[in-house]
Amino acid sequence: MSDTPGWPSDPAAPRLTELFADGERRVQQMSLEAAGLYFDFSKTHLTRDLIGAFRARLDACGFAGARDDLFGGRVVNQSEGRAAEHSAERGEGAPASVDRARAQHARMRALIDAIEAEALGPIRHVLHIGIGGSALGPQLIVDALGRDESRYDVAIVSNVDGAALEEAFRRFDPGATLVVVASKTFTTTETMLNAASALAWLEEDGVEDPYGRVIALTAAPQKAMEWGVDETRILPFSETVGGRYSLWSSIGFPAALALGWDRFQALLEGAAAMDRHFRLADPAASAPVLAAFVDQYYAQLRRCETRAVFAYDERLRLLPAYLQQLEMESNGKSVTVAGTPLDHPSAPVTWGGVGTDCQHAVFQLLHQGTRLVPVEFVAAVEPGHALDPAHHRTLLTNCFAQGAALMTGKDSADPQRAYPGDRPSTTILLEEVTPETLGALLAFYEHRTFANAVLLGINPFDQFGVELGKAIARSIDTEGTEAFDASTRTLIARAFG
Ligand code: F6P
Repeated sequence: MSDTPGWPSDPAAPRLTELFADGERRVQQMSLEAAGLYFDFSKTHLTRDLIGAFRARLDACGFAGARDDLFGGRVVNQSEGRAAEHSAERGEGAPASVDRARAQHARMRALIDAIEAEALGPIRHVLHIGIGGSALGPQLIVDALGRDESRYDVAIVSNVDGAALEEAFRRFDPGATLVVVASKTFTTTETMLNAASALAWLEEDGVEDPYGRVIALTAAPQKAMEWGVDETRILPFSETVGGRYSLWSSIGFPAALALGWDRFQALLEGAAAMDRHFRLADPAASAPVLAAFVDQYYAQLRRCETRAVFAYDERLRLLPAYLQQLEMESNGKSVTVAGTPLDHPSAPVTWGGVGTDCQHAVFQLLHQGTRLVPVEFVAAVEPGHALDPAHHRTLLTNCFAQGAALMTGKDSADPQRAYPGDRPSTTILLEEVTPETLGALLAFYEHRTFANAVLLGINPFDQFGVELGKAIARSIDTEGTEAFDASTRTLIARAFG
């Protein structure tokens, strides 16, 4: 990192409205289409000069080599000595890894065919148990694409709070339920406890062979077998696919089952189209890279501590939660790849919600608060319903109006009623929410996260920060409370006596 240029500077920092002096030209220069999606960066402070300066930093950070290593299946997760091969699941990666992923997908497809043929009984309900990356991706896909055509009733349960599992038990008939245990490691406390309770629920209801109703999705098949799952119902995936990047692997099983194989395949193809764009486009014309420049402009030059994502589409309501894990677990680090302290902020806090609800809840702060929050709008031209077109028109006009209002603001003699404006937003427009466009959108976010990590000099593929709390929780049961501080001891005593 020593010869890496510093962050670009923007001393003049023109207002957004000034950048729009020749608005048509600016939109032309600062927008692009990739993998069927339209990206409008024009309402951010990015300029051609800034793009050039960020580009210099990106090159000096070894972006081209890092990207080649990513797609080539070489080690990019240095702290764990692993490749990160999520793109191979979509057919873009090292040939041997692509072949392996195809074979694993074929196995998944065969099991889906068997379930459809009722080889496991008359299945109508799918109880998917997993947490973090083993839940958020499938949940988003099923929620976004399975609304009209879902062939199975799917519940995705992640929380160890028994209330979550009970809710699914109330909805489902145990005699017609398939239990899917999704865990890369097959050791995660919450998942294993929930899986045991789901098995007990099947047993209590008299299901003859409860283990015969369990499917395991894991990179640790041996552990699944030891737990009791028959080898024929284990869908393995590679250790080199990270949890938060795993929805393309067998972790996507509930989505493939609910949507049907062809639509799952189309999701993979949409993602692959974005992979190719990221791999081949010049960085200055690459949607994930430009988005990363925007991210770093606000994180480093404007010191923004958060970024907000608003899906103006009910089908994408789970997108902010999905992105929170992807971006914060990947890039929320304090040290470089080499282990030295970062001398700049890493990932901002990702948060957000769904439009237009968000306008009536949090937009006050975005328009008039003292903090600058770069905003991202995601919307689709075509509606996802057959109601009066007025619904979709109102949705989209509100989305576009918010971006315009944030940028232009409004003067007023009354300070309470003045809007400062100059508040940035990016808009991502899908023509329709389809498996292809959703796949491309999620792959875009993955690659943007990677480009940000390269600019930051960090490893986006490990997550040691989540381990300490887990270890301490375990130690309360195994080692008692002696070693804890007085506050924690008191809380434990109040809860457990
Ligand atoms: O706690 C963090 C984490 O390790 C995530 O990275 C992962 O997606 C989640 O837990 C679940 O892990 P697993 O799939 O191994 O159960």
